[in-house]
Amino acid sequence: MSQLPPSDVQLIESTLETYAGVPGSLITILQSAQEIYGYLPMDVLEHIAKRTNTPIATIVGVATFYAQFRLEPVGKYLIMLCQGTACHVNGSELISSAISDELGIEDGQTTPDGLFSLEHVACLGCCSLSPVMMINGRTYGRLTPDKARKVIRDLAAQSAKGEE
Ligand code: FES
Repeated sequence: MSQLPPSDVQLIESTLETYAGVPGSLITILQSAQEIYGYLPMDVLEHIAKRTNTPIATIVGVATFYAQFRLEPVGKYLIMLCQGTACHVNGSELISSAISDELGIEDGQTTPDGLFSLEHVACLGCCSLSPVMMINGRTYGRLTPDKARKVIRDLAAQSAKGEE
């Protein structure tokens, strides 16, 4: 992973002004930080530790315990690959292998160029289309390994051309 620039910790200040002294509000502060930064940068966690007088180990412990928090930035395209029962029965593992093979990343990881993140998720609510993945809010159903690879290649090509 390349070195990330320092975060602007001032962005979390208004949240800290409201919640820093309020017992039991660490989750609220972390949720707000993730909304602001897209993930929980380590320098922001250190800032929160200082401002709330909480050991950094406690904060990192909470941030890693809850699946809703991410400690690394998410890629431009977030691939949410369904692992629900219907998708599992219809081959989501093969899709997962194809994506991992295509991008060189596993569940929870991001490509070094910051373009794609892969996340295995529970039922996306469109089981009749299984196996399914959702990328940045768009649903791709009845996937085959080849179809999944093509979607990813098309998005990478679009991105290279500067399209959304
Ligand atoms: S199990 Fe995959 S969408 Fe429901």
